[in-house]
Amino acid sequence: MSSRHFSESLIQASLEWLQSDLQDAAHDIDHIQRVVAAAIKLGKAEGANLDVLIPAAYLHDCVSVDKRDPRRSQASILSADAAIKWLQQHDYPCELLPEIHHAIASHSWSAKIETKTLEAQVLQDADRLDALGAIGTARCLMLGGQWNNTLYHRDDLLAQHRDLDDKTYCLDHFFVKLQHLPGQLKTDAGRQEGERRWRWMQDFISQLQSEVSE
Ligand SMILES: [Fe+2]
Ligand SMILES: [Fe+2]
Repeated sequence: MSSRHFSESLIQASLEWLQSDLQDAAHDIDHIQRVVAAAIKLGKAEGANLDVLIPAAYLHDCVSVDKRDPRRSQASILSADAAIKWLQQHDYPCELLPEIHHAIASHSWSAKIETKTLEAQVLQDADRLDALGAIGTARCLMLGGQWNNTLYHRDDLLAQHRDLDDKTYCLDHFFVKLQHLPGQLKTDAGRQEGERRWRWMQDFISQLQSEVSE
């Protein structure tokens, strides 16, 4: 869906530009499309400015930095800078650019930038929702596979008698990071959806546990 200023042709042009530099299977064009869709849904519920939110959502991961790269914590700022440059080249209204920059720069964990606008909060929530639910579970396991992680700890799946280690076990990432996400979402609409998705993940964990301990 386009906005008043971010037209259908800008969407197509941005997708073509993004195709050339996306980092991994969990951060592909489908991730972008899901984040855009969630951002629009939450943005409408919260009354956000879609002329800021939609371009920010399309371009939020436009610069990819590998997880092991020391510049990783700068990725969202690099993305924000590159997105603004691209929007300027496409004559996007310049009064909207500072808010788009802020929304992109503050969306990630590692940048540690406080979200100061509704649009920044909505984009961050939309991006984090993609780490929850069925899609979040699939992405987590897919990335774990890419890094040669093991699915779970054979003798202590829920880590009741050991320290969590999500660099070794995919399932531990649910407890290290993902279970805390719903409570960290910033908009009411985002939190509601986050809690719904986390409940599904709890069912997934119970089901997994029942199957592997048979
Ligand atoms: Fe990102
Ligand atoms: Fe993202």
